[in-house]
Amino acid sequence: MINLPLNRLKPGMVMAQSVFNSSGASYLSRGQRLTISYIEKLRHMGIRDIHVSSTVPDGPDIPLPEDVLEERTRAIAVKRVYDMFEQVRGEGTFDPVPLGKASAAIINDITERRNNLVQLTDLRVHDMYTFAHSVNVAMLSSLLGMLCGLSERELSELAMGTLMHDIGKLDIPKEILNKPGRLDDGEFRTIQRHPIIGSEIIRSMKVSNAEQLSIVARQHHERVDGKGYPDHRQGKQIHIYGKIVALADVYDALTSVRPYKKAYAPSVAYHIMTNCSAGHFDEELSRLFFSNVAIYPVGTVLDTTMGYGIVRKVEFGKTDRPVVCVFADKDLRCLEKPFDVDFSEEARETIHKVLNDTELLHFIHQMQFDPASLLEE
Ligand SMILES: [Fe+2]
Repeated sequence: MINLPLNRLKPGMVMAQSVFNSSGASYLSRGQRLTISYIEKLRHMGIRDIHVSSTVPDGPDIPLPEDVLEERTRAIAVKRVYDMFEQVRGEGTFDPVPLGKASAAIINDITERRNNLVQLTDLRVHDMYTFAHSVNVAMLSSLLGMLCGLSERELSELAMGTLMHDIGKLDIPKEILNKPGRLDDGEFRTIQRHPIIGSEIIRSMKVSNAEQLSIVARQHHERVDGKGYPDHRQGKQIHIYGKIVALADVYDALTSVRPYKKAYAPSVAYHIMTNCSAGHFDEELSRLFFSNVAIYPVGTVLDTTMGYGIVRKVEFGKTDRPVVCVFADKDLRCLEKPFDVDFSEEARETIHKVLNDTELLHFIHQMQFDPASLLEE
């Protein structure tokens, strides 16, 4: 799977993600082959890039990885979060019922699709960052909540609270939210108000568990070492909802494109969160999280000590040591017979790096071969 800009799309390529209109109905479905008129329509919709299963038009069928969330659940939830922001902007409060339904659907998907690893968080609806981000964070948080044994009531509070966690951003000027580069002290202080504003909005809701729901918004930027905000809570002072959502929020922010940064590969996010930011997150929760999130998702092309390879399989608990099909040597010469290596059994072999989409395109062009075809059904 590769994310291609529109001018690189060719009829006959297979869509690896669905495209939804603003009310959550799908226009183009995942698995569909592109035609000239579909590509035109995508351009018309203002979409700039899209995931396809391979760069080869009319190539073989390549299995598309299944995610924890149904695409439709995701699209509808994004719409509900968008509606909630609009209602709060207009009326200062909102109807919690549709949002409750969206969080129930998320929990339902996670329960039914537990055999899938998280590996498609980047397939988001374009230009809806805050809303798509809230849904991804709700999905990741609910999954983590389920893994650490939260009750049904707690899970639904966590999911719903997470869909609302950034509502306080409504009061923060867009120029600050989207500012490329470093924020000055004043701007940073402004941003740091969003958990407080958000939790106040939620506490004013006319639902019996408003206080519980508001915890997620209030504590999602707290860190177990006390280096978070707004209350500088530490360790046990942070509610389990706050500890869970902190991990999910940072992971999703790192792996998505923002006006001021590119999307990091899951492996880079993993490295940042477990090394550079060690101490920020609850260690046990972090371990649980990354044993269920594909650090090298299926289809990722890797540079390894054994040469270049494509990830064929990832398993729970071994997400940093996938099964890789090695297809080229270190000098980029294609092997006559590609072979599989199970990195979980090859302690001495290491993964140097993940090829990003630009490097992968260059690579495909140079080799005249798309390694995705090795994943053929
Ligand atoms: Fe936030």
